[in-house]
Amino acid sequence: MSFLLEKKQEHEGKCEAAIRAEQYGDAVFHAAKAAEFAYALASQCEGHIAGRYIEDAEGWLEIAERLKKEPPKKTRGAGKGSGPITDEKGDAPDEDWLVTAKPNITFDMIAGMEQAKLSIREMVVYPLRQPEKARSLGLKPGGGVLLFGPPGNGKTMLGKAIANELDAAFYYASGAQIRSKWHGESEQRLRKLIQAARNNPVAVLFLDEVEGLLPKRGGNSVVDNRIVTQFLAEIGGFEESENILLLLGATNLPWDIDPAVFRTGRFDAKIFIGLPDMPARLGILRMHLHDVQCEEGLTPEQWAARFDGYTGSDIVGIINAAKRACLSRSVKENLEPVLRGADLESAFKTIPSSVTPKLMQKYEAFQEARF
Ligand SMILES: Nc1ncnc2c1ncn2[C@@H]1O[C@H](COP(=O)(O)OP(=O)(O)OP(=O)(O)O)[C@@H](O)[C@H]1O
Ligand SMILES: [Mg+2]
Repeated sequence: MSFLLEKKQEHEGKCEAAIRAEQYGDAVFHAAKAAEFAYALASQCEGHIAGRYIEDAEGWLEIAERLKKEPPKKTRGAGKGSGPITDEKGDAPDEDWLVTAKPNITFDMIAGMEQAKLSIREMVVYPLRQPEKARSLGLKPGGGVLLFGPPGNGKTMLGKAIANELDAAFYYASGAQIRSKWHGESEQRLRKLIQAARNNPVAVLFLDEVEGLLPKRGGNSVVDNRIVTQFLAEIGGFEESENILLLLGATNLPWDIDPAVFRTGRFDAKIFIGLPDMPARLGILRMHLHDVQCEEGLTPEQWAARFDGYTGSDIVGIINAAKRACLSRSVKENLEPVLRGADLESAFKTIPSSVTPKLMQKYEAFQEARF
């Protein structure tokens, strides 16, 4: 690694450490140094790569500027009520990436998963619903909770259901969405999002697919390094705020998230959302076969056992494939559509489970690891 790159990364790391220690003066210094080395790197490169370093330097300068003007501590005040997000010039930005409407997903729509639902209620819902009771016990309402687990098992649904159960302002953004749409501008977007959420007395900020937003640094993208620092700076020390902010994250790739996010306690709890258990599989089958005419002997009970090891969305996918085969037959033969065991059987044979035991072990290892 070149000397300049090494120095740039050293200052980035120190900037982050200073933010963690709430030493914002030092953080400003190291952000400015990171910018200086990024400019120096740009002067040694050409074209596209030089452009990326310049963009990086500008990003670090902006972070320095921001920390100087408004260190995170001072931005935290009493609840002012929710207000529109505006950009620097005071214009309302294009906000189609940001959803603030209450989702219409409820816990009842998520089959089974009783253990996960209980953990969520205890860790997230009750302290926010009754903050005074929680405080009287020395429990802090709000904070950061990460839902993690294999794809397609209801993390997004659960996150939305949490927001639905709470009387709180709701902000939702998916990492992939922010990154793809606002590449280069993602940090500013993230900052505005966090600030908007914090302006409410009680708010839920749901960052879905959080690995896309806060990826491990040191990869190809120079933006990644800044966005994590920006996140740490904005979210920094929200425990001191009088406003209650619940930061909810969801991911199926927890190991791709920058570990600084966990080290600093921004996500101080995690909840594993695993494969659907027997009642969940039964519930999913019942939901999707509810109004369907099935041949005699085809029961949700019989299939729930066979879907052990499958994800929720695998199960839905197999049922839908079977329904399509049934429709096709009924059109060709001009008959009433009656779903057969054979339709499910052939869909089951062609669609494998999307998780492997090895992948499941990886989630278990992450569950065991201390934050
Ligand atoms: N327990 C469940 N009850 C009802 N439907 C479920 C359940 N688990 C999964 N599903 C089905 O699977 C789909 C995917 O769920 P969701 O989008 O919440 O998964 P996810 O865990 O967020 O996945 P990813 O990690 O890929 O984002 C849902 O739309 C729903 O049809
Ligand atoms: Mg999801």
